[in-house]
Amino acid sequence: MRLSWLLSLPAVLTVASAIAIEKRDADFLSVRTKMHKDMSGRRGDPKDKYFHESVFHPHYDGRFADHQLGYRERKQALSNLIQTYLATMSDIGVETWLMHGTLLGWWWNRKILPWDSDSDVQVSESSIHYLASYYNMTVFHYKTPRIPEGRDYMMEINPHYSNREQTDKLNVIDARWVDTTSGLFIDITTARYNSTHPSGEGMLSCKDGHEYRDTYIFPLRETFFEGTPAKIPFAYKEVLEAEYKQKALTLVDFEGHHFDEDKLEWIPVNKKYIADAKNKADEKKAKAQEEQKKEKLAQDKKAEEQKNQGQQALSEPGKQAPVAPEQQPETNQAEPPKPDGPQVVKQPTKADQLPPPEQQNVDAQKAKEEEARIATLKAGEEERKVKEAAEREQEQERQGGKR
Ligand SMILES: *[C@@H]1O[C@H](CO)[C@@H](O)[C@H](O)[C@H]1NC(C)=O
Ligand SMILES: *[C@@H]1O[C@H](CO)[C@@H](O)[C@H](O)[C@H]1NC(C)=O
Repeated sequence: MRLSWLLSLPAVLTVASAIAIEKRDADFLSVRTKMHKDMSGRRGDPKDKYFHESVFHPHYDGRFADHQLGYRERKQALSNLIQTYLATMSDIGVETWLMHGTLLGWWWNRKILPWDSDSDVQVSESSIHYLASYYNMTVFHYKTPRIPEGRDYMMEINPHYSNREQTDKLNVIDARWVDTTSGLFIDITTARYNSTHPSGEGMLSCKDGHEYRDTYIFPLRETFFEGTPAKIPFAYKEVLEAEYKQKALTLVDFEGHHFDEDKLEWIPVNKKYIADAKNKADEKKAKAQEEQKKEKLAQDKKAEEQKNQGQQALSEPGKQAPVAPEQQPETNQAEPPKPDGPQVVKQPTKADQLPPPEQQNVDAQKAKEEEARIATLKAGEEERKVKEAAEREQEQERQGGKR
């Protein structure tokens, strides 16, 4: 019994190693993080296709996510995605530049177009070799003021990158930079010199069919994107016009957004987007109001206590606990009373609430919310007005919803 098992062992090993040698993708189990089920659409994909998009959306990696993000969440995740990508490539010395919709976003306001759900970059052929040789499946952990919870980003190189031919239609994406939390990713394509191009020397071809004369791409220009150093093609305007037509560079109403030339922001005009943004604003407002209500309650309680001081024993520990610090008896006060009065003291300050300076170029909607909220915090009078307005809005919305 035992012997026969031992004898069959070499056979088992042979089978196992044969499976390992077979060229395959990095499957769910080899990279899984928190998900229980693989949501990539691999089963429907042709055998030779390396990257699999998810079953729920083509711009999510189904190994890492099972749902789409909301408008704001996605915007933030995409911003973090490109920032971490650009920073990493700069660190490891990989030449990369913005392309396609990402370059168009740069053209307008140096930011990702808010209706986009992916980003596009290109690399040179030597860069993709380098990445494939040293960084395939490398996970980079980022914990920054912008990503306080910490996130892992993975560099994955398509083994078919070594096939330079445009006929390899299943593998036009040479690599991906994947957010292993949201499943969002950046498509990385290679611009390769094409020695057989009919237009002669200096032509670059990508497997996705895009072609450029190298003088349009190089020398790359240095710029910023999403607040991070980035590079763009030398003749970015011509490149954009060739891909999107002149109109895309001037049309200020697009994809349910309007470009606000003062704020340099694409503002959603589409109802769905507004509702999304508004819900968040309402949440914030409600929170601020809740804080103030608590504050008032504490004050009322204190006043009540002072009124009853004659009859009630103040030494009762339960009564003293909720007293706000600024209203404690003068005797043990460490700080002088603030000139703004007690109302403001307990509120979170503006500085507490604001993101770090480099992140302050928040979209206009957010800026508006911020203003509204700060106003709310400033004075009880204004707060009441805002509250009433919010209630009116909600009422209108309710009525609108009924229709
Ligand atoms: C990268 O690693 C994955 C997972 O091991 C593998 O499937 C893929 O072929 C590798 N890519 C390259 C370029 O070697
Ligand atoms: C070179 O350019 C020609 C013409 O566009 C194209 O058919 C061919 O696929 C390109 N070759 C490579 C390696 O990209």
